[in-house]
Amino acid sequence: MMVNEDTLARLLSMGVLVQPGTDRPLSQSDWNALMATPEGVAMLFRSEGPAYRDAVGSDWDAPLSLEGLSSAALTHLAHYTTQCDQPQAQIRTEIDALLERYLPGTVDLVVELGCSAGPDMPTLSKRASVVLGIDSHLVPLRWLARRVAGEAPQVVRRLGGRRFATHNFQDPAGDLSNVIPLLSNALDPPLVAESADVVVAINLLDSVREPLNLFLEIDRILKPGGVLLLASPFHWNDQITPLEQQLQTLYPELDGPEATCFILDGGDPRLPHLSFDVVDEREVPWILWDHERCSMRYLVWMAVAVKRPAP
Ligand SMILES: C[S@@+](CC[C@H](N)C(=O)[O-])C[C@H]1O[C@@H](n2cnc3c(N)ncnc32)[C@H](O)[C@@H]1O
Repeated sequence: MMVNEDTLARLLSMGVLVQPGTDRPLSQSDWNALMATPEGVAMLFRSEGPAYRDAVGSDWDAPLSLEGLSSAALTHLAHYTTQCDQPQAQIRTEIDALLERYLPGTVDLVVELGCSAGPDMPTLSKRASVVLGIDSHLVPLRWLARRVAGEAPQVVRRLGGRRFATHNFQDPAGDLSNVIPLLSNALDPPLVAESADVVVAINLLDSVREPLNLFLEIDRILKPGGVLLLASPFHWNDQITPLEQQLQTLYPELDGPEATCFILDGGDPRLPHLSFDVVDEREVPWILWDHERCSMRYLVWMAVAVKRPAP
């Protein structure tokens, strides 16, 4: 599998990954037995591995050939590219600045949920012994795995209409050898309780089926005193998040940032044990290019919250 052996040994020695269906730590031989895709991305689900594999279907093993894809599929991929390959974008530099301020040293374990191809991995990898990058989508994780291996994967950019160009992913920081990409579910991460020093979830909250469960899991895996870096444009999509689960339905009188702060402070009666101090918040533009003549601009609320130690 395409991970750095030293990094993997460090991660396994932390005893933070769990065997599927249990709370027992994963050993090296368990890891060797994990299902991996042909390009070497490990897959570890706490409870639902085979069901997930069935859902992925027959495309699972297909190596990605850009030439063979329809323009609809290429457009879809082109959107991923623009999210991931803009190291100078303001959203990326703000994340770096926030971590510089609230995480000046190096921690043992950073977990990024919904990491995609890892636009923030150069920033995160500087600040941790190990960074675990979790996503449920194989295509961007394959790109991340190749970046970790020191390659610059070829990605696609839409020029307009049915015109596409390929280019190689640029990495400003180079060494991502302490990053481990993992195909898994952010709503059920395969980690023991209180294992992460830092949890990062950038533009994930409004991309999951059950946002409240995301808060529950972030709280579960974060150590007391640990740091959460969360960002969201609160751009809900009924086809991804059922209306009754969206924060704007649960809290019609609050906007997205207010509802999030309320939940993090233990205000939601379903999650009364949550206990975070929001220590920084800011609004940051997040711009995705569709093609040369079209961009989409979101305004993302970005916050740093610290999990209060147990009373
Ligand atoms: C809008 S993208 C954001 C990607 C990246 N963090 C960024 O800032 O550009 C959301 C990502 O979350 C992933 N995702 C959505 N639901 C997920 C889940 N339940 N578990 C893990 N990843 C998930 C998607 O595959 C996608 O890569």
